[in-house]
Amino acid sequence: MNTMSVATAIRTRRTVRHYLPTEVSSAHLDMLMELAMEAPSSWNLQDRSIVMITDPEVREGITWATGGQPQPREAPVMLAFVAEPRAWEQDRSDIYDLARANQAWNDEFITGFSAASTLFQRDLADRDLLREYAVKDAMIAATYVMLAATELGLATSPMNGWDETKVKKVLGIEHRDDLAIALLMSLGYPAEQRRHPGRRPLARTVFRDRYPAV
Ligand SMILES: Cc1cc2nc3c(=O)[nH]c(=O)nc-3n(C[C@H](O)[C@H](O)[C@H](O)COP(=O)(O)O)c2cc1C
Repeated sequence: MNTMSVATAIRTRRTVRHYLPTEVSSAHLDMLMELAMEAPSSWNLQDRSIVMITDPEVREGITWATGGQPQPREAPVMLAFVAEPRAWEQDRSDIYDLARANQAWNDEFITGFSAASTLFQRDLADRDLLREYAVKDAMIAATYVMLAATELGLATSPMNGWDETKVKKVLGIEHRDDLAIALLMSLGYPAEQRRHPGRRPLARTVFRDRYPAV
């Protein structure tokens, strides 16, 4: 039984670019995916999904999409966090059924919540913010995976360095304008040890009550 604290996972996680070819067990992958989906999402829309990539041919495609970064070629698993900015327009009755079955939400709450969330999402659409908000939800799920992987002795690298059109083509969603790639992440056993590059002092990055005036 692993007992790494969340604080230790946060402090010891490092971005790792080089990986051993050792496979990640399906039990670990299942657990990581389950924990990823425990992440909160705006209005519990759950407007993000993960494509788990292990096929070397698809990873080679991802290498192409990332301009040759080493992670997709070396890591046995690549994760693509897909944001679904139009999820709010689709049927959400399964989400409500689940919350009802869990006795978390009652019918009255669901009616009000559903109406309010639709208004909220329409306003986002008017302001062209749907993508940004779905990406926020996908990024929280990605953060959960990075920390949970650390507890399992696995390494990760979050990745921004890719061409979205190419990633979508590799994943077979090149025509899906309703989907956005939020983040790629490599996952596997580390072949290098990275030192903590450090963080700015909190006095520089954490403020009380107001953002400081310049
Ligand atoms: C959103 C995001 C995108 C990143 N993209 C890349 C990337 O494409 N390639 C890479 O090698 N590292 C990437 N990084 C890793 C950062 O360089 C790394 O997090 C930073 O240097 C701090 O190191 P640490 O993660 O070990 O604390 C990314 C990190 C974040 C948060």
